[in-house]
Amino acid sequence: MPYSNSPVFTPAQRVQNYRYAIRNIVTHARKLEEQGRTVTYLNIGDPILYGFQPPEELIEANIQALQLGHNGYSPSSGITDAVLAIAEDARKRGIPTSAEDTIITFGASEAADLVCTSMLNPGDEVLCPAPGYPLYNAIIAKLNAREVSYTLDPRHGWLPDPDDIERKITSKTKILVVINPNNPTGEVYSKETLQQFIDIARRHRLLIITDEVYHKLVYDATHIPLASLAGDDVAVITIDSLSKNYMAPGWRTGWMMITNSRLVPDVRQAFIKLADARLCAPMTPQFSIRAAMQLDSTYHDTIVRRLRSQRDTTISMLNSIDGISCNQPEGAFYVMAQIQLADTPFTTDEEFVLKLLEEQQILFVHGSGFGTSAEDGFIRIVYLPGTDVLEDVYTRLATFVKSL
Ligand SMILES: Cc1ncc(COP(=O)(O)O)c(C=O)c1O
Repeated sequence: MPYSNSPVFTPAQRVQNYRYAIRNIVTHARKLEEQGRTVTYLNIGDPILYGFQPPEELIEANIQALQLGHNGYSPSSGITDAVLAIAEDARKRGIPTSAEDTIITFGASEAADLVCTSMLNPGDEVLCPAPGYPLYNAIIAKLNAREVSYTLDPRHGWLPDPDDIERKITSKTKILVVINPNNPTGEVYSKETLQQFIDIARRHRLLIITDEVYHKLVYDATHIPLASLAGDDVAVITIDSLSKNYMAPGWRTGWMMITNSRLVPDVRQAFIKLADARLCAPMTPQFSIRAAMQLDSTYHDTIVRRLRSQRDTTISMLNSIDGISCNQPEGAFYVMAQIQLADTPFTTDEEFVLKLLEEQQILFVHGSGFGTSAEDGFIRIVYLPGTDVLEDVYTRLATFVKSL
């Protein structure tokens, strides 16, 4: 049939369920900016927007790699020195893995995509936390697989309920996703909770993806790598990156590490096949990975100090607003605050977020974009800006809530 002026192609069906609230919501803010208004963005976890930068040592290693001419393709699973450095560091932190079981990817995002694409047939099920980071839902929707949410309960410190997880397992369940520290709740899991995840995976022969992209950004809790508790009979894939732990999201450099790869030999081969087909992750930033793994604690001490003060301002100011409450996050740089929607004219979290944007030009993300119920009234706030900006934002938020 000849081309005409009517649309020739429609998007594939798989895209219809593909949503990513953190960026989708920005369309509304851009419209306000077109009208000449200034928007304060607290929707996206990009530390660079708020004055953070990667450690100098990593920047220098990156520049040096460019100058030394490392501008070609790397091996598809990453340069040898980088995978060796990652595996050495992992073993020091108690994660049983090896350089052969480490694959460098386009950020943690591609690692999640490679694992899910390698493992899931249409109709297969993946247990994901709700609330949780929407990347997983998007990948699963793209693969025509099925996301099954397990609930993190705000009344119990955003902890999972093992019985709830277990009830949701069927013969089609293949993967259990754990995000630790969690985005959006900031919760860091105890040894006991991690052990519960592992026991469930062991009983039901599931693969665990543990997303630990914030493990260096932890306040008073101690981060325990899930794979360090897995024993020798549960397959675990740990996902990590330079994006948040080293504040270099634009370098698009992450990795996955397999623990107990002998339990998933064919899947490991499938990761490599897929990795071969996309050639490699960006080459030059891989030369900064050894520097990252060898960094002393000064950089993270400074960053965590700043984030802790921003978190403290956030918690105390939010909890002092009538009609808003939140838990204290122990890691990452997000908080889920709950609005008493019943005391407002709104019936959904998104309505609240959009009206706040219109009235006060402040952009948060509605909790339902992360899997909470729209009528529960959660909003996710990124507390990366300095305390002066945050104080101004929360003062305006209080004015808005009072005016309702
Ligand atoms: C839990 C979680 N995993 C993965 C990512 C994506 O990381 P990357 O930039 O390394 O792809 C993010 C980004 O916000 C995240 O919050």
